[in-house]
Amino acid sequence: MSTILFGFGDSVAATRRLGRALNVPALEVEVHRFPDGECLVRIPSTARTVLFYRSLNDPDHKIIELLFAASAARDGGAERVILIAPYFCYMRQDMAFRSGEAVSQKVIGSLVASHFDGLITVDPHLHRVASLNEVVRGITAISVSAAPLLATLIDDRDAPVIVGPDGESRQWIEAIAAPLALETLVASKRRLGDRHVGLAIAGADRVKGRRAIVVDDMISSGRTLVEAARLLHDAGCLSVEAVVTHCLAGPHDLAWMAASGIASIASSDSVDGSTNRAELAPLICRALRENELA
Ligand code: R5P
Repeated sequence: MSTILFGFGDSVAATRRLGRALNVPALEVEVHRFPDGECLVRIPSTARTVLFYRSLNDPDHKIIELLFAASAARDGGAERVILIAPYFCYMRQDMAFRSGEAVSQKVIGSLVASHFDGLITVDPHLHRVASLNEVVRGITAISVSAAPLLATLIDDRDAPVIVGPDGESRQWIEAIAAPLALETLVASKRRLGDRHVGLAIAGADRVKGRRAIVVDDMISSGRTLVEAARLLHDAGCLSVEAVVTHCLAGPHDLAWMAASGIASIASSDSVDGSTNRAELAPLICRALRENELA
């Protein structure tokens, strides 16, 4: 067999979807957890090219399992081991904000580069670092844009305003709004704590009497989205919807966002959950093939 795709318990459905798109077998990595918290990882088969599919939300235990699985694939004779991580973790800590802090992005980048021959991810959160290749050095590292997929989630009836909650979101809102000829607004944001952000939206009065659709790479705690919604409602918008690549929020935070004025949240299936409205498999399949990784 030349190529095989593996997922884990948390990514079985998405792994199968990608397996069908690639027309390769999709199997599950076996993970046993011992009473002391350690894990035993087994891959039930191997191939020349082994692809591992796993989004790295809630990353700490997932990473160690992935490293064990990659090692098992190499021990089994794999010549290429590729990581497909639609959500790629620890990208926001790209510098030491206070002396003594670890630069998590750098550590994760070199860990992945030293255990995999290729990485495919979707809309990684790159801020002060311009490209994924600067984070994951020396291997093929591909960043796929979900913008074309997110554009399919925009209900553009009655010309809603597309809102980016911070400067980094400009790339997504422009890619989505331009083909649909929709107006955009970009907020400026200051993060004041894990669950505390300050936003300002210049020109917010343009949403008066209109729907606002906030587009972002990710929802984590939901604070950014709720603060944007508060300002947009204050400016007289009809409703606030959200369209994002990665929705990391759990049921509790999703319920809080709904109660805080968010009419709907639509995300890709990067992280399995109730907000999933669009599948990444076709985009990832194309990126794998174009880069000769599968
Ligand atoms: C960061 O700048 C990202 O683009 C998101 O806006 C942010 O991570 C969302 O986090 P939260 O949902 O916790 O406000």
